[in-house]
Amino acid sequence: MKTSNESGVGNAINRVEGHLKVMGKAKYASEFPVPNKVYGQGINSTIAKGEIIGIDTSAAEKVKGVLKIITYKNAEKLKGYDQEMPFISTDTIAPVLQSNKVHYFGEYVGFVVAETFEQAQYAARLVKFEYKEDPKPTINFDKSRNKAFKPSEKSDYSRGDFKKGMSEADEVVKQTYNTPIEHHHPMELHATIASWNNGKVLVYASQQIVEDASIAISGTFQIPNEDVRVIAAFVGGGFGSKLNLDRHVIMALMASKMIGKPVQATVTRHQMFTNTNMRQQNEQIMSIGAKRDGTLTALSHETLSHTSIKEIFQEPCGMVSKMLYNVPNNLVTARLMPMNLQAPFAMRAPGEATGSFALESAMDEMAWKLKMDPVEFRIKNDTQHDLHANKPFSSRLLVECLRIGADKFGWENRKSEPGTNKNGNWLIGYGVSAASRNSPYKKTYAKVILKLEKDKVNVTIQMDATDIGTGSYTIIAQTASEYLRIPIDQITVELGDSDFPPTPGSGGSWGAASFCNGVQSACENAVSKLKKNRNIKNSEEVALADLLKRNQLTSFEAEGMAEPSDAFSKHSVFSFGANFAEVWVDKDTGMYKIKRMVNVASAGKILNPKTAYGQIIGGITMGAGMVIAEQSKIEPNFGNFITRSFADYHVPVNLDMANVDVIFLPEEDKIANKMGIKGIGELGITSVAASIANAIFNATGKRMRDLPITPEKLI
Ligand code: MOS
Repeated sequence: MKTSNESGVGNAINRVEGHLKVMGKAKYASEFPVPNKVYGQGINSTIAKGEIIGIDTSAAEKVKGVLKIITYKNAEKLKGYDQEMPFISTDTIAPVLQSNKVHYFGEYVGFVVAETFEQAQYAARLVKFEYKEDPKPTINFDKSRNKAFKPSEKSDYSRGDFKKGMSEADEVVKQTYNTPIEHHHPMELHATIASWNNGKVLVYASQQIVEDASIAISGTFQIPNEDVRVIAAFVGGGFGSKLNLDRHVIMALMASKMIGKPVQATVTRHQMFTNTNMRQQNEQIMSIGAKRDGTLTALSHETLSHTSIKEIFQEPCGMVSKMLYNVPNNLVTARLMPMNLQAPFAMRAPGEATGSFALESAMDEMAWKLKMDPVEFRIKNDTQHDLHANKPFSSRLLVECLRIGADKFGWENRKSEPGTNKNGNWLIGYGVSAASRNSPYKKTYAKVILKLEKDKVNVTIQMDATDIGTGSYTIIAQTASEYLRIPIDQITVELGDSDFPPTPGSGGSWGAASFCNGVQSACENAVSKLKKNRNIKNSEEVALADLLKRNQLTSFEAEGMAEPSDAFSKHSVFSFGANFAEVWVDKDTGMYKIKRMVNVASAGKILNPKTAYGQIIGGITMGAGMVIAEQSKIEPNFGNFITRSFADYHVPVNLDMANVDVIFLPEEDKIANKMGIKGIGELGITSVAASIANAIFNATGKRMRDLPITPEKLI
């Protein structure tokens, strides 16, 4: 079908929900006007390990407006984990307040409900817990090494003969790269309004995947899934922190069931350091062997990380090292240490974001040893076959990304010798990195509702997809505009309600491809059914309004479904990219500026260059944050996080990211899916950190292997 109009896919239109947001009319989880709602506040433990041996609620109970104080003593019995140390996922149950045991500093130990938010906050501070503290919590990364374990049989991977490959190398790089704990900080705090009404659950919550949130709720309370409705109409940023269900939702529901009123609970910015998700600390050891001509002979990537005492999450840092380069001998391992810390979970490009820092830094170190241009070194080791999955890539334009990026950036002006490009006190460096990110695609349903009003057809699209600030509303409307051939102002998109047709939600860069192919299918079904009813040939073009009239209908509904094809499963489907950074380092103070960056992305069909640009630039900013500022620090004696606000947990600001160019390669990957879409949400963060660190090396000759790279490390 032809492109219909200027609001179809591929056009850089403004966000369709933009005006709602600026008018304050887009309702986020805690903004729904639910009558009679009351407020809950979680209480956090003040020890990292031990037991609660006494609770005094008397002072809190006297506070005006207090309705309920829940601790392990009076909490409803919930479903617990079926096994010791389960792997946690996006639909995992979230039991809470089930015992007197404390596993980490900040774990929820109580929940206070009151008529107002202020009363709940105040009363929460008055509940006194007495602990029997274990004086030796496991809170030190280095001292936990003896507890390291292999999380599963699949966590180690090898191909060829790594040792042999290393012995064939002319040059070897073996280095360790460290990345710190990072915490999520989307603009919208994790919030919920939860109500339990005659066995039926209605939850407004900031979730990336409403379907999985409903599964987690029904699983935790052991109630039928059809009795649970989750609504996330607008989500103010997720990045992985709202993929799974956090425990404030369960506490609010438990309280609502006890007191018979809807309960609102918000995780405070302070609590986000202990009660939502974080990226764990990783130690990554890279070994690379290469021939003098730049041919890789061997590559290993060994990662040591931590998980919680009760759950397993493993960030697959070594993923990139399995598939990015044409290296016959490959070894990737992962070890985890249980620590008295909250369970880590997904943060934007889990695996790639941190793994590519190690891999792409080590590749730069090797290029330097070989005296090869780092762009050429990467191109030399390109492959069109995924040696890990043993499948061809559906499309892979990494070489094009590198070449076009180098050209656009002015890479030929780079001086290969560090310290030779100067401007006054500034040392100037150029750095490059290659990026790759798995581009999943999942089964998605969508419903299209057509209504003939006068001579216009107004269309509503319904699906339980979410828009976490990424532009889902817009690209879904564009898809409907494209395939129904009507202007976008006749289209209303309704998302984020688990009563709507199921989708995989927003996560893992699968949202756009999954949602839009689902919508495309629903639109096509609507049109073809209407044509079939009147024996109109599919090839004949009939305006939607005429189609309804010829069917003597004023309204019509159709559903659609899209899912991965055989071709998809026979290929490795990844998005690719290249990052180029110019960094200026003050030679006396170590202060540095990211002067400019160029990113080239090959991510299939770009549905809307404006929202896609927002995705990439957001990813780049987060990647720069890994280098310039972000790190969470643990207090060494008690296991609390000492970074507990934006005053001490720094994130990049506009001034840090003044000049960023993004180029999308024109591409449609029809093997990936019918519409040719691949993921971009996580591609943008991938390997950004390495490009900046590599630029710092090129400027100063100092190889920075530990993030963040704060100025004192450069003097
Ligand atoms: Mo992403 S870490 O799957 O939200």
